[in-house]
Amino acid sequence: MAVSRRDTADYYTLLARKEGYPARSVYKLKEIQDTFSIIKRGDIVLDVGSAPGSWTLFIYRQILKGTGKIVSVDLNKIELTLDSNVITFFQGDAFSEEIMYKLLDLGPYDSIVSDAAPMTTGNRTVDTARSEYLVSNVIFLAEKILKKNGNLVLKVFQGSSMKEIQDKMKSVFSKVKQIKPKACRNDSFEIYMVGLNKK
Ligand SMILES: C[S@@+](CC[C@H](N)C(=O)[O-])C[C@H]1O[C@@H](n2cnc3c(N)ncnc32)[C@H](O)[C@@H]1O
Repeated sequence: MAVSRRDTADYYTLLARKEGYPARSVYKLKEIQDTFSIIKRGDIVLDVGSAPGSWTLFIYRQILKGTGKIVSVDLNKIELTLDSNVITFFQGDAFSEEIMYKLLDLGPYDSIVSDAAPMTTGNRTVDTARSEYLVSNVIFLAEKILKKNGNLVLKVFQGSSMKEIQDKMKSVFSKVKQIKPKACRNDSFEIYMVGLNKK
């Protein structure tokens, strides 16, 4: 029997619980990593919008496995017991001057992943505009603190600025791809843009 995305949503929630991840969104990053191999062992990785922490935990457990470093930042606290040899967490606005200096200090990064999303209001125009603000800031960060040949994963709420975002990504990266992982909810208008090999 075919499984709908709504059925798979329950499946991913249960799987996350079973595997000890605080959020089902971990399976979005897993599919992106399986498809594009954006992070490799030993990398220095920046995770923007990381709470409650499933992407950070996946990168730590499944990819870096004790090598490299993860710098993780969110407005909210992360729900993990952190291995401070590998993971540094900052609570705050990733794009404030104070946090940007801290991120800069610990970089440059081999890869940046951003699942950052605004609080949604249900009004698609407002939500998309807020997402675009985050997207443009993450691309700005990538221009400043991502290494040459580094990779970026970016959550985008699809809206009228898709073409501008894509063009901007193409000016920064050699290859730009889009992916909607199976773990995305059916009614969500999020997709992920992947920038490979920063120029
Ligand atoms: C979908 S959640 C991330 C889930 C996370 N990837 C995980 O798997 O556990 C989106 C996060 O983006 C964060 N966020 C939104 N704007 C931010 C900002 N300006 N700075 C830091 N984090 C931000 C929110 O606080 C929220 O926790």
